[in-house]
Amino acid sequence: MLVRLLYASRAVDDASQKDLEAILAQSRARNPASGITGFLCSSGSLFLQVLEGGRMQVNALYNQIVADTRHKDVVILLYEEVSERRFADWSMGLVTPERANASVLLKHSESATLDPYGVSGGVSMALLGELMATASIVGRADLLPGATPQPAAGRP
Ligand SMILES: Cc1cc2nc3c(=O)[nH]c(=O)nc-3n(C[C@H](O)[C@H](O)[C@H](O)COP(=O)(O)O)c2cc1C
Repeated sequence: MLVRLLYASRAVDDASQKDLEAILAQSRARNPASGITGFLCSSGSLFLQVLEGGRMQVNALYNQIVADTRHKDVVILLYEEVSERRFADWSMGLVTPERANASVLLKHSESATLDPYGVSGGVSMALLGELMATASIVGRADLLPGATPQPAAGRP
């Protein structure tokens, strides 16, 4: 049983680069073992993360993430059962909307700023998909400088 969960949160310390790197490193190290794939979007103090995998695994990880003191105001935007993964190749990808064309943001919302708390979960999901499809992905988690190559879960 595969599920996809999308949530938003606010970084406690304006998402420092150090925090982001630590979160990505943790995700890369842990997600493959539990079959989790997904994407993390970081913009200023905002996080938007999509987690995919088995129902038990996604729920267990989400509960851990909610308890993480590096962020607050964690809100589930979307939760669905899916027949296939959308981000199967990513143990945890990273996307930064600052680098996106403003038109991508404007296409889905009233202003060119990321506001997951103000739009529907479907809109945030569509936006994330589109940011991925444009050149906004700044690094596959396992291709970041200094990272040990880490195949996504489920791949040989
Ligand atoms: C925005 C955000 C996203 C995170 N994403 C993941 C993730 O995908 N996988 C993961 O294992 N930990 C992730 N973490 C870290 C977990 O919250 C937690 O610190 C980590 O699983 C280690 O837990 P432990 O200290 O109980 O071992 C994330 C944390 C934050 C703040």
